[in-house]
Amino acid sequence: MRTPIIAANWKMQKTTGEAAAFAEGLAEHLGDSPVEVVVAPPFTALGAFASALSAAGLDGRVSIAGQNVHAEPAGAFTGEVSVPMLVDVGCRYVILGHSERRALFGESSGVVADKLRAAQSGGLRAIVCIGETLQEREDERTFEVLAAQLDESLASADSRRWPELVIAYEPVWAIGTGRTASPEEAQAAHAFVRERLSGLAGAASTEIRIQYGGSVKPENAADLLARPDIDGALVGGASLDPKSFSAIIHSGSPGDSRAAE
Ligand code: 13P
Repeated sequence: MRTPIIAANWKMQKTTGEAAAFAEGLAEHLGDSPVEVVVAPPFTALGAFASALSAAGLDGRVSIAGQNVHAEPAGAFTGEVSVPMLVDVGCRYVILGHSERRALFGESSGVVADKLRAAQSGGLRAIVCIGETLQEREDERTFEVLAAQLDESLASADSRRWPELVIAYEPVWAIGTGRTASPEEAQAAHAFVRERLSGLAGAASTEIRIQYGGSVKPENAADLLARPDIDGALVGGASLDPKSFSAIIHSGSPGDSRAAE
């Protein structure tokens, strides 16, 4: 049984004060839920958010993630942040290969593979993002693109850590556009990813959680999360408000009446 995992990716949003206010709001709305909750603030707000989570009594309940990391542990890499630095500030997870990193910052799957190796050997769990563009989908190349991104990004994955790995399927055409993949489209992609993972990870592939990302909202989350291979969500815009993020979390908890709030 895979525990659902709902993660907030704030991208380049929220100051330290705003991050602390979010933690307070989350304490109000989160309640009990069997879902694993992760929040990825920008680097500058990680420390403040960690302190605010503790103050709100949520530090054991909500994990913190970096949105990116460098593959080297230290050195002359101006503007970059390393795995030991993320661990030091309280991160348990790191998001790797987000489509914005791939498209806007030239990050290839080879670079993602190096970062994954560094993250896993440094004690961070990774959320590895994959997803096709609209053009690739229209050209019926979705599965080919997902297969290549998975094979290359996971080329140096630590085989002892498959159960900790999280994959985020985020179709690029659904990110920040208000256009969500239908639950059927998303399930088909997730089933393909799971099958590909079984070739890479063998029996452990059944433990790898696959999140869906791309315009997830309180209104569409329950339908997506009910599908057999959709094990959670990576949420951008709707994760900025603690109430809507909590509503998505409750959508991932079967039988939770707060899901519709
Ligand atoms: P939106 O939820 O804003 O579409 O963003 C999705 C995403 O990129 C999460 O990583």
